[in-house]
Amino acid sequence: MAVAVHFDRWRETRGILLSFARSIQERDIVTYEHSRRVGTYAQRLARYLGWSRRKAYDLALAGLVHDLGKTWIANDILNKSGALSDDERRTMQRHPVIGARILIGCDVHPFYVETVLYHHEAWDGHGYPTGLHGEEIPLSARILSVADVYDVLTSQRPYKAPLSEAVARERLLLGSTTSFDPAVVRAFLHLLDTQPNFTLPQLVCPLSERIEQLSPLLVDSVTSL
Ligand SMILES: [Fe+2]
Repeated sequence: MAVAVHFDRWRETRGILLSFARSIQERDIVTYEHSRRVGTYAQRLARYLGWSRRKAYDLALAGLVHDLGKTWIANDILNKSGALSDDERRTMQRHPVIGARILIGCDVHPFYVETVLYHHEAWDGHGYPTGLHGEEIPLSARILSVADVYDVLTSQRPYKAPLSEAVARERLLLGSTTSFDPAVVRAFLHLLDTQPNFTLPQLVCPLSERIEQLSPLLVDSVTSL
């Protein structure tokens, strides 16, 4: 009975998170596509680090909504092609807190809230929003952080061209022990070096794509390990 209740609760949470992913898709397709790739990288990394399929899938779901708070940031800041002013940067840096508050309001498991809230923290404590450092930062957020930055580095943005895999690899290595958990960086680079076609293609899905297809996609990326 307890197991059935637990599973029903998990299914309900998954439904909530996929609904939020749909709202991200409709609001900002670039953030949505980025989030899909981040979720997949994080899921692969978690599996390599020994997480169960279920837990790694949960992390992929957290990855899908990690930038949920950006849906509440004004377009002129969100899509700005030039450098952000200090005020604009402070506004943008509120997105982990906004996303976490939305999830708390839906009473989802703290795992998802913490992962979203802390995905911009840094290993040496210079991140935001709280300045946690080292192992104070939940491992889920440390994994997501590496996946997030790798995808940003290798993506086209209004303000920058995509970096090659080799250059992005060097950037991650440079950030190891300052921005990132060195053990997570090592694991990510191992996957990058040993798995052919590890870097995901930059595809923008048409808005009509059914987001329900996400679940099998995420599961497929687990089973292909
Ligand atoms: Fe973010």
